[in-house]
Amino acid sequence: MADFRERVMAARREELEAYEKYSELAAIAPTHELSLLIQSIARDELGHARILSGMLGMEDDIDSLTVRAQERRRMPDSGRFRRMVARIIDDELNAVSAYAQLAIIAPELEQRLLFLTVVADEFGHARTFIAILNPSRGD
Ligand SMILES: [Fe+2]
Ligand SMILES: [Fe+2]
Repeated sequence: MADFRERVMAARREELEAYEKYSELAAIAPTHELSLLIQSIARDELGHARILSGMLGMEDDIDSLTVRAQERRRMPDSGRFRRMVARIIDDELNAVSAYAQLAIIAPELEQRLLFLTVVADEFGHARTFIAILNPSRGD
Protein backbone atom coordinates (compact mmCIF):
# COMPACT_ATOMS: atom_id res chain seq x y z
CA MET A 1 0.00 0.00 0.00
CA ALA A 2 1.41 3.37 -1.02
CA ASP A 3 2.13 5.63 1.91
CA PHE A 4 -0.24 8.37 2.98
CA ARG A 5 1.53 11.21 1.17
CA GLU A 6 1.71 9.29 -2.12
CA ARG A 7 -1.98 8.50 -1.93
CA VAL A 8 -2.84 12.15 -1.30
CA MET A 9 -0.66 13.16 -4.27
CA ALA A 10 -2.44 10.61 -6.50
CA ALA A 11 -5.83 11.91 -5.32
CA ARG A 12 -4.74 15.48 -6.13
CA ARG A 13 -3.79 14.47 -9.69
CA GLU A 14 -7.17 12.79 -10.10
CA GLU A 15 -8.95 15.95 -8.92
CA LEU A 16 -7.13 18.05 -11.51
CA GLU A 17 -7.97 15.48 -14.21
CA ALA A 18 -11.61 15.51 -13.08
CA TYR A 19 -11.66 19.30 -13.38
CA GLU A 20 -10.42 19.04 -16.99
CA LYS A 21 -12.86 16.26 -17.82
CA TYR A 22 -15.85 18.11 -16.33
CA SER A 23 -14.93 21.30 -18.14
CA GLU A 24 -15.06 19.26 -21.36
CA LEU A 25 -18.35 17.67 -20.25
CA ALA A 26 -19.86 21.09 -19.50
CA ALA A 27 -19.01 22.15 -23.06
CA ILE A 28 -20.99 19.26 -24.60
CA ALA A 29 -23.93 19.37 -22.15
CA PRO A 30 -27.27 19.36 -24.00
CA THR A 31 -28.67 22.38 -22.13
CA HIS A 32 -27.29 25.59 -20.71
CA GLU A 33 -28.56 24.67 -17.22
CA LEU A 34 -26.81 21.28 -17.27
CA SER A 35 -23.65 23.00 -18.45
CA LEU A 36 -23.81 25.36 -15.43
CA LEU A 37 -24.41 22.41 -13.09
CA ILE A 38 -21.38 20.52 -14.43
CA GLN A 39 -19.23 23.66 -14.24
CA SER A 40 -20.18 23.94 -10.58
CA ILE A 41 -19.10 20.32 -9.97
CA ALA A 42 -15.86 21.03 -11.86
CA ARG A 43 -15.15 23.90 -9.46
CA ASP A 44 -15.75 21.56 -6.51
CA GLU A 45 -13.03 19.25 -7.87
CA LEU A 46 -10.66 22.17 -8.22
CA GLY A 47 -11.44 23.06 -4.59
CA HIS A 48 -10.57 19.49 -3.59
CA ALA A 49 -7.25 19.73 -5.46
CA ARG A 50 -6.53 22.92 -3.52
CA ILE A 51 -7.31 21.25 -0.18
CA LEU A 52 -4.97 18.38 -1.02
CA SER A 53 -2.25 20.75 -2.26
CA GLY A 54 -2.54 22.63 1.02
CA MET A 55 -2.19 19.40 2.95
CA LEU A 56 0.91 18.51 0.92
CA GLY A 57 2.40 22.01 1.19
CA MET A 58 2.34 22.31 -2.63
CA GLU A 59 1.45 25.22 -4.91
CA ASP A 60 -1.04 24.86 -7.78
CA ASP A 61 -1.00 26.55 -11.15
CA ILE A 62 -4.79 26.85 -11.00
CA ASP A 63 -4.97 29.93 -13.25
CA SER A 64 -3.74 28.22 -16.41
CA LEU A 65 -6.28 25.43 -15.87
CA THR A 66 -9.24 27.74 -15.36
CA VAL A 67 -8.34 29.96 -18.31
CA ARG A 68 -8.24 26.92 -20.59
CA ALA A 69 -11.60 25.70 -19.25
CA GLN A 70 -13.26 29.07 -19.82
CA GLU A 71 -12.01 29.22 -23.41
CA ARG A 72 -13.87 26.06 -24.37
CA ARG A 73 -16.71 26.63 -26.83
CA ARG A 74 -20.15 25.10 -26.25
CA MET A 75 -20.76 22.20 -28.67
CA PRO A 76 -23.76 20.22 -27.35
CA ASP A 77 -23.55 16.46 -28.03
CA SER A 78 -26.10 14.59 -25.94
CA GLY A 79 -25.01 11.05 -27.00
CA ARG A 80 -21.41 11.61 -26.00
CA PHE A 81 -22.55 13.51 -22.90
CA ARG A 82 -24.58 10.52 -21.65
CA ARG A 83 -21.74 8.07 -22.32
CA MET A 84 -19.31 10.26 -20.39
CA VAL A 85 -21.73 10.69 -17.47
CA ALA A 86 -22.21 6.89 -17.24
CA ARG A 87 -18.43 6.45 -16.80
CA ILE A 88 -18.14 9.40 -14.43
CA ILE A 89 -20.65 7.86 -12.00
CA ASP A 90 -18.08 5.08 -11.43
CA ASP A 91 -15.31 7.66 -10.95
CA GLU A 92 -17.35 9.50 -8.33
CA LEU A 93 -18.23 6.31 -6.43
CA ASN A 94 -14.54 5.33 -6.50
CA ALA A 95 -13.70 8.79 -5.13
CA VAL A 96 -16.16 8.27 -2.23
CA SER A 97 -14.36 5.02 -1.42
CA ALA A 98 -10.82 6.44 -1.83
CA TYR A 99 -11.47 9.44 0.44
CA ALA A 100 -13.13 7.24 3.07
CA GLN A 101 -9.92 5.14 3.02
CA LEU A 102 -7.80 8.29 3.35
CA ALA A 103 -9.93 9.35 6.34
CA ILE A 104 -9.16 5.97 7.93
CA ILE A 105 -5.39 6.25 7.49
CA ALA A 106 -4.97 10.02 8.02
CA PRO A 107 -2.63 10.62 10.95
CA GLU A 108 -4.44 13.73 12.23
CA LEU A 109 -8.04 14.22 13.28
CA GLU A 110 -8.44 17.44 11.30
CA GLN A 111 -7.21 15.67 8.16
CA ARG A 112 -9.90 13.06 8.76
CA LEU A 113 -12.45 15.85 8.91
CA LEU A 114 -11.23 17.30 5.62
CA PHE A 115 -11.38 13.93 3.87
CA LEU A 116 -14.88 13.27 5.14
CA THR A 117 -15.98 16.68 3.87
CA VAL A 118 -14.65 15.68 0.44
CA VAL A 119 -16.46 12.30 0.75
CA ALA A 120 -19.71 14.23 1.23
CA ASP A 121 -19.03 16.28 -1.92
CA GLU A 122 -18.20 13.19 -4.00
CA PHE A 123 -21.32 11.45 -2.70
CA GLY A 124 -23.35 14.46 -3.86
CA HIS A 125 -21.64 14.39 -7.25
CA ALA A 126 -22.40 10.67 -7.72
CA ARG A 127 -26.02 11.30 -6.85
CA THR A 128 -26.27 14.31 -9.15
CA PHE A 129 -24.77 12.42 -12.10
CA ILE A 130 -27.17 9.51 -11.52
CA ALA A 131 -30.05 12.00 -11.46
CA ILE A 132 -28.78 13.56 -14.71
CA LEU A 133 -28.85 10.17 -16.47
CA ASN A 134 -32.18 9.21 -14.96
CA PRO A 135 -34.07 12.32 -13.77
CA SER A 136 -37.12 10.37 -12.52
CA ARG A 137 -34.95 8.51 -9.97
CA GLY A 138 -32.84 11.38 -8.73
CA ASP A 139 -34.83 12.11 -5.61
FE1 LIG B 1 -13.25 15.71 -5.97
FE1 LIG C 1 -16.51 14.54 -7.63
